[in-house]
Amino acid sequence: MAASANSPAKKRILTGIRPTGALHLGHYVGALHNWIDLQDQYDCYFLIADYQALGDHFHEIDLIRDSVLQVTLDWLAVGLDPEKSSFVVQSYVPEFAELSMLLSFITPLGMLERNPTLKGELDDLAVEQRTVGFYNYPMSQVADILLPQAHLVPVGDDQLPHIEMTREVARKFNRMFKPVFPEADSLIGRVPRLSGTDGQGKMSKSKGNVIMLSDDEKTVTKKVRGMFTDPNRVRADTPGKVEGNPVFQYHDAFNPNTEQVDEFKARYRAGTVGDVEVKMALAEALNNFLDPIREKRAYYEANMNLVEEAIMDGVGRMRKVAAETMEQVRDAMRISSYTKNWK
Ligand code: TRP
Repeated sequence: MAASANSPAKKRILTGIRPTGALHLGHYVGALHNWIDLQDQYDCYFLIADYQALGDHFHEIDLIRDSVLQVTLDWLAVGLDPEKSSFVVQSYVPEFAELSMLLSFITPLGMLERNPTLKGELDDLAVEQRTVGFYNYPMSQVADILLPQAHLVPVGDDQLPHIEMTREVARKFNRMFKPVFPEADSLIGRVPRLSGTDGQGKMSKSKGNVIMLSDDEKTVTKKVRGMFTDPNRVRADTPGKVEGNPVFQYHDAFNPNTEQVDEFKARYRAGTVGDVEVKMALAEALNNFLDPIREKRAYYEANMNLVEEAIMDGVGRMRKVAAETMEQVRDAMRISSYTKNWK
């Protein structure tokens, strides 16, 4: 029997990102760092979900187009390896849309109505932005996961309702028709969330509180110099707070010299070190961390054929998998083979 695209030797992973901008340090800590490690153990599919990006960016197609490239470059630069893993652009594999549409007929509306992540996002959207497509994006994400028959989905905890929905839809399909889909488990990274450089919780490019993986050395140093610290500390010789202080949070995440970090913390609490010294050491640590990433990014920017190849290889593998799944789905549902039995 020919090897089946959907019986991989290793367990299969699918996870994704919406192409709505280049990636920043928060993406690295929260996702990419984990993905890099998973590549050796699993058959990984990394999805650039451009259909899903249309959900709240349908009026910014140029941004989506540019971001598909930026995200691919960021992935290559941090060490996701297109020979080990498959990079997939969603719209290059139309079966994602087909499967989403078919599954929508067995999915109760209540699953979307009850989804807390979706609810919160809809509340934040202006009325004219609340489209059918946006409302339905968790359904499309279910298809993202089921099309490659993924076993594991590494995500942040805000995505858990979508994974739960995926399991419910898979169970229902398997029960109603034929057992086609594994029930995917989530894989939650135990990483602390990195706050913005302004210490105001969530990172967002529009708030200007993020350090990009593609920022040059000068930009990083400037951003670090402008970082918020302990707002109650006015002078270098007054004791300061380390907890909740973004400068120390970043030191913990990116400065490999833990001795230096511990010493800074002690001196900061005692009021014997100035913000500037702590920040300059952080800028140095961040630039050391980013240097090899910048180098790799520049290499790929100068060799765009390799970037294209990375995408087309991954898409090629995904298309094989997709074709096989859709054949199983159409067979299980007994759909679109009507003329076969006509006499
Ligand atoms: N919704 C995810 C995000 O915004 C991106 C995504 C799309 C995804 N399809 C997926 C994540 C499938 C996991 C699995 O980050």
